Amino acid sequence: MSTSVIILAAGKGTRMRSNLPKVLQPLAGRPLLGHVIETAKKLNAENIITIFGHAGNLVQQAFSHENIQWVEQKEQLGTGHAVKVTLPVLPTEGVSLILSGDVPCINPTTLEKLLSVSRETGIGLVTLTLDDATGYGRIVRHNNKIQAIVEHKDASDEQRQIKEINTGIYCVNNAKLHEWLPKISNENAQGEYYLTDIVAMAIEDGLEVASVEPELAFEVEGVNDRIQLAALEREFQRYQAQQLMKQGVHLIDPQRFDLRGELLVGQDVCIDINVIIEGHCEFGNNVQIGAGCIIKNTKIAAGTVVKPYSIFEDANVGENTAIGPFARLRPGTHLANEVHIGNFVEVKNSNIGLGSKANHFTYLGDAEVGAGSNIGAGTITCNYDGANKFKTIIGDHAFIGSNSSLVAPVVIANGATVGAGSTITRDVAENSLAVERSKQFSKENYQRPEKVNK
Ligand code: UD1
Ligand code: CA
Repeated sequence: MSTSVIILAAGKGTRMRSNLPKVLQPLAGRPLLGHVIETAKKLNAENIITIFGHAGNLVQQAFSHENIQWVEQKEQLGTGHAVKVTLPVLPTEGVSLILSGDVPCINPTTLEKLLSVSRETGIGLVTLTLDDATGYGRIVRHNNKIQAIVEHKDASDEQRQIKEINTGIYCVNNAKLHEWLPKISNENAQGEYYLTDIVAMAIEDGLEVASVEPELAFEVEGVNDRIQLAALEREFQRYQAQQLMKQGVHLIDPQRFDLRGELLVGQDVCIDINVIIEGHCEFGNNVQIGAGCIIKNTKIAAGTVVKPYSIFEDANVGENTAIGPFARLRPGTHLANEVHIGNFVEVKNSNIGLGSKANHFTYLGDAEVGAGSNIGAGTITCNYDGANKFKTIIGDHAFIGSNSSLVAPVVIANGATVGAGSTITRDVAENSLAVERSKQFSKENYQRPEKVNK
């Protein structure tokens, strides 16, 4: 049976006090709605229908690369009205999962369970038992069977004692949605069209209403303000940290770990505190990441040790390299095995060959460095003339003396040596020495100037 996913995302999110629509606020670096869309994709839904309202163009733009059917709800007249506006595009066969754009952490496994119990009955809900259910719709049961959902504002004192709540996540037969939604009225405490009324309609039709509970409560937590957003961020991070620890990652302190994307790991990876990992990253066996590193879209091969406060973006790092502390690897950096990149070294769009070293205060931009070369402290590749960028090519086993400027385009051939303090503007041939600096001048018995008395 085909599955559609309907995502409610028309609410404004007034309590965020933001120009950005609520569903575009980030959780773990991705918009709230993006999390829900990813989950929908994992379920192989036939179609994803998203109901937008406020700042719809911004929301649509943010997901223009996704295959989504957008339906506008011009006025927010309630959740029942929101789903009703999808009817013209909703198939008449199959089932729909109804999700909220501001409940980002719902797990595909919970939804699979919901789908399987609802396929038999025609309708099912994700419910949760809470100590304090204030504000939520309550699940009214009779002989343990669900009879209705009563909104907090419409509930009697007795109903308000019920601790089982509606999480706002449903699975419903599409034919039934076509039948029921046009019949929902807004005669209730809030004057809204409540989607929750379909539960009582199902009972009238003689259907049983199935329910499942999420494995973890945070899956169904919604975001209304920044306090809830920050709290959910921590819970989600804790969950991700636990998943990594179960895979064998040694997180020194899972409370101080942030993953904003995806991390694939080998064995015995160790990550110290306050590390932020973004985008898609891969760490091989025994990789060690020091405190305070920020690593984005980077692959780091086995045995590499990254010392604290190093920053990586779009880099590819070989095996058994040593990086940092305070190193910066910018996009297009490729380090071969056993390379050393030390403190205050910046590398951009460069290939550094096997075992080469740049250990202190260096800029390597648009450079090709062969194997076994040593780049002295303070070396700068002058790759930019203010208009265009040029390459610096350094061969194997070259030695660049400290405080040298290599003005590109320039080639330092295999085995060549550059004397410290040189400004190299012409190619240096294999196995030769190039020194470009004025001769040292010395004056014997030099008398320093003395202070004049006033
Ligand atoms: C809803 C449920 C309640 C449940 C709670 C769980 C109803 C009537 N009540 O209440 O039983 O316990 O969620 O959080 O459904 N939305 C639209 N268009 C609208 C109204 C809402 O797209 O016209 C969207 C909102 O943006 C939000 C979601 O629907 O993503 C839920 O709406 P909200 O107003 O938060 O519902 P609640 O009153 O919290
Ligand atoms: Ca709500």
